[in-house]
Amino acid sequence: MSKNPYEEDQILHDYLLFHYGKKEDILSDLFPVDWALDFPVKCITESLPEDLNNRENALDIGCSVGRSSFELSKHFKNVVGIDYSHSFIEAANKMKLDGQYPIRVKDHGSIYSHKTLKSPEACKPDRITFEQGDACNLKQNSEKWDFVLAANLLCRIPDPRKFLEEISFQINSGGILALVSPYTWMTEYTSEENWIGGTDNSSSSKEAIKSLLYPSFELIKEQELPFLIREHRRKYQLSSSHSTVWRKK
Ligand SMILES: C[S@@+](CC[C@H](N)C(=O)[O-])C[C@H]1O[C@@H](n2cnc3c(N)ncnc32)[C@H](O)[C@@H]1O
Repeated sequence: MSKNPYEEDQILHDYLLFHYGKKEDILSDLFPVDWALDFPVKCITESLPEDLNNRENALDIGCSVGRSSFELSKHFKNVVGIDYSHSFIEAANKMKLDGQYPIRVKDHGSIYSHKTLKSPEACKPDRITFEQGDACNLKQNSEKWDFVLAANLLCRIPDPRKFLEEISFQINSGGILALVSPYTWMTEYTSEENWIGGTDNSSSSKEAIKSLLYPSFELIKEQELPFLIREHRRKYQLSSSHSTVWRKK
C-alpha cells in the first residue's frame, strides 16, 4: 500500500470523533442511529468477564486514538495501547496528557464545525502507555497479558494468522483475548491467501476463526457489535463487527 490512510489528517479527526465524541457531536439529524454508538467502550464492557481475577496487564493492539485503552484503565493496573500509525499515537498521548483535543467535524465540502473533545471520565490515564508499534512484530514482554483487545485489526494487517499465533503465547493461562472484526478483507492490506476464511474455497471467517483458536482457547461469548464512523453530515460508515471473547486454556 503506497500511503497509510491512518496517517491522514481527516481520518485522524474522524477517529477522534468516533472514539471520544458525544452522541450530539456524532449524529446528524439525518442519521439517528444511537444503537451504533460507543463501540470502543462496548469492546471492553462486553468482553470483560466479571470473574477475571488477575487484572494486572492489558493490551489494546491497533488502539487507534485510544478510547478502549482509557476504558481498560478502569479495570487494569497497567494498560498498553499500540498502533502502527504515528499520528494516532501522538493524538492518544495528547488526549492522555492534556485531557482534551480540539477537532473539526465535517458538515460537507470544506464546511466544518469545531469542537473540543474531552478525555473520558472515571478513567485512569496514568495507568496507560501509548506506543507506536507493529502487531506483526510485537516485542516479547517478560510479563504476559491478562487481557488483549484486537478491535477491527485482523483485516488490516498482512498476516492475521501469524498475529493470532504470536499473541496467543503472550496471554496468561485464564487470560482473555477479545477479537472484534467486520472481516472486511481487502488485498490492499492482506493478500488473499492470508485471509482467515471469507474466500470461495474456504469457510466463513466466523467459523475459520473458531477452528484456529479452539485448541488453545475456550469461547466464552459471541455477539455482533455495530459501529458508526461519521465522514460528513450525509455520509457515515455503518458496520457490524463479529465479537468473540476467548479464555486461554
Ligand atoms: C480499522 S482501525 C481500528 C482502530 C480501533 N481498534 C477501533 O476499533 O476503532 C485499524 C487500526 O489498526 C492499526 N494498524 C494497522 N496495521 C497495524 C499494525 N501492523 N500494527 C498495529 N496497528 C496497526 C491502524 O493504524 C488503525 O488504527
